[in-house]
Amino acid sequence: MIRIAVLLSGRGSNFAAIHEAIAARALDAEICAVVSNRDDAPGVSRARDWQYAAHVIDNRAFASRADHEAEVLRVLEAAKPDFIVLAGYMRLLSTRFVAAFPNRIINIHPSLLPSFPGVDAQKQAVEHGVKVSGCTVHFVDESLDAGPIIVQHAVEVRDDDTAESLSARILVEEHRAYVEALQILARGRYRFDGRRVIAS
Ligand code: GRF
Repeated sequence: MIRIAVLLSGRGSNFAAIHEAIAARALDAEICAVVSNRDDAPGVSRARDWQYAAHVIDNRAFASRADHEAEVLRVLEAAKPDFIVLAGYMRLLSTRFVAAFPNRIINIHPSLLPSFPGVDAQKQAVEHGVKVSGCTVHFVDESLDAGPIIVQHAVEVRDDDTAESLSARILVEEHRAYVEALQILARGRYRFDGRRVIAS
């Protein structure tokens, strides 16, 4: 059983997929905290509906980025998660934050990294003209969208795709990939070989 803290800023569909996998006993984990920087995030309403400890820590209420992050850290340290799961959390994490949880922060990105890091990954993929894109679940290190990869799922890019239609098909795979990655972490049977994450 692993303890998971979920950080989100919006819709929370990946959070919902993780919640459902736990409820269905497909994932041996417990959500010990949900943290959002936005009070109006639909993910926060879902967290409250499901009676998780939901913490809104609005970055606009803090004088500096460092002050906001210190409060997020304080809440997380009290919740004692094994892993911090970024699920549409629209804040960059400082190196200090990342160093506080080495190889224990996980993110999902809607492209096959290292292609199309940063914002609007699905639009970048359509505009570049790739024939295959997808999603990546990876450990977070101090580099942007570039930490060790745990799981990737590929999605075909169709000739008539828009950023929106591709995003919708990638999202279906995101939900599966996130659960799969967390199952690997929950089993604890993985090791690092340089940048490679080897699950057994
Ligand atoms: C997902 O596309 C994820 O890959 C990206 O942000 C989006 C979050 O969606 N990092 P949701 O809030 O989980 O529905």
